[in-house]
Amino acid sequence: GAPYPVFTRQEVGQHRSLADRVWVTYGNEVFDITDFVELHPGGQSKILLAAGGALELLWAMYAVHSQEHVLGILRGYKVGELSPEEQSQPTPEDPYAGDPPRHPALKVNSLKPFNAEPPAELLTENYLTPNQLFFKRNHLPVPAVDPASYRLQVEGPRGRTLALSLHELKSRFPKHEVTATLQCAGNRRSEMNRVRPVKGLEWGVAALSTARWGGARLRDVLAHAGYPEEGQAGEQHVGFEGLDQDLSGAAYGASIPYSTAMGCHGDVLLAYEMNGEELPRDHGYPLRVGVPGVVGARNVKWLGRISVSREESQSHWQQNDYKGFSPSVDWDTVDFSTAPAIQELPVQSAITEPAPGAAVPPGELTVKGYAWSGGGRGVGRVDVSLDGGRTWHVAELKGEEQAPGRAWAWQLWQLTGPVAPGSTELDVVCKAVDASYNVQPDTVAPIWNLRGVLSNAWHRVHVTVVQ
Ligand code: HEM
Ligand code: MTE
Repeated sequence: GAPYPVFTRQEVGQHRSLADRVWVTYGNEVFDITDFVELHPGGQSKILLAAGGALELLWAMYAVHSQEHVLGILRGYKVGELSPEEQSQPTPEDPYAGDPPRHPALKVNSLKPFNAEPPAELLTENYLTPNQLFFKRNHLPVPAVDPASYRLQVEGPRGRTLALSLHELKSRFPKHEVTATLQCAGNRRSEMNRVRPVKGLEWGVAALSTARWGGARLRDVLAHAGYPEEGQAGEQHVGFEGLDQDLSGAAYGASIPYSTAMGCHGDVLLAYEMNGEELPRDHGYPLRVGVPGVVGARNVKWLGRISVSREESQSHWQQNDYKGFSPSVDWDTVDFSTAPAIQELPVQSAITEPAPGAAVPPGELTVKGYAWSGGGRGVGRVDVSLDGGRTWHVAELKGEEQAPGRAWAWQLWQLTGPVAPGSTELDVVCKAVDASYNVQPDTVAPIWNLRGVLSNAWHRVHVTVVQ
């Protein structure tokens, strides 16, 4: 075909808005992506950050783009090439170069940002998940925080902002410890994705883990800042901002209801310890919020700022993500303002052993897994079936004693049951019942949602019996 027209970077730089059309460069090629702006899965504001300039730096931050299908989309918008004297651009520094080392056993879902879960069979080896194996869910590079100059900003009720050092947080407020399970809203998303494609990371059954968290009570710090035990009339929200920021300067943020922050038996923590160790960098060093019973997304890491407001956090993650929808809602019809932000999670359980597709011996089969429910509702019972749900056995629960309404941590469970003589295949199924007698739905399709969150149907594992 005809050679492409040649442009300078200055000419590309004149196309910075939908009105002037939106041009970007990648390598030595020029693209007019105007028509793609409103189709961008990462949102219009993000893609417009590249308008008139090079994609490399921004894509280094959002490595989701280093996939063939993304480059394929880009190629479709090619309109020209850069003149040869313009072509060399320094390769951007990797924004993830400062991320901490990680345990090699983790199953990596996305490297940059780092998202990983432990292998299922390792997950239930320990009641408290070792820090190195604890699932990790980052949206951005891990910020490097200097503990000496670190200050937690707490906006007070009358406009005064407190700045608390790590030393003050540790010495002024009594240390409180809570054993709690943290679960990502996307845990078990891969099962939903198999029913119909959803958008998000392909988590297996291990995007949850349990730790003993240690830190100051959030309510003690809020009281110190001058907030009353009871909120004012009408619900207020306690907002959190992380020190991790995207290239537009927006911090990771979330909020929880004021009543959760002040209530929950004082178990909402500003945690600086995890399983008796200093909080690891991947989990929010030096300080994170621990909201037991509430979805992972509100447990803000690398905590920089706390505020109280009549409004929920305005962050992308509170407003336009981590919400549930009807199976009938798709990306063309979704209106995020119509759904409440996920807070307490529903009852959940999954099988961690045997693995899907495993070959098991005849006679007896031992099945292991975990069960948990949000809001401090403990798990009362786990039922296990070895025949696809026709007959059920009650599993043996193993967990620490937890007070009613404060059952923040999971129960591990185990069942050894008879394999029907002559069977060549088994459908192993589990389902849990929580303290309020909430049960898990039996199939995925009726709870399917476009973002693939809240995936808590009966967990089914198919195995073959090898004589
Ligand atoms: C996601 C294309 C520019 C931020 C995506 C995805 C595609 C895409 C296809 C979905 C990937 C997947 O899930 O497999 C493009 C193209 C771009 C562009 C063709 C340029 C022409 C940008 C820029 C930014 C950005 C400049 C940030 C400054 C994001 C984010 C997501 C995303 C944050 C993840 C959304 C989510 O999963 O929630 N992009 N993108 N994109 N993009 Fe872009
Ligand atoms: N806090 C900040 N500042 N940045 C983040 O990317 N991810 C959230 C939450 N807190 C996140 C954050 C999400 S979605 C989850 S599930 C949990 O952290 C994961 O915590 P973990 O990495 O300690 O397992």
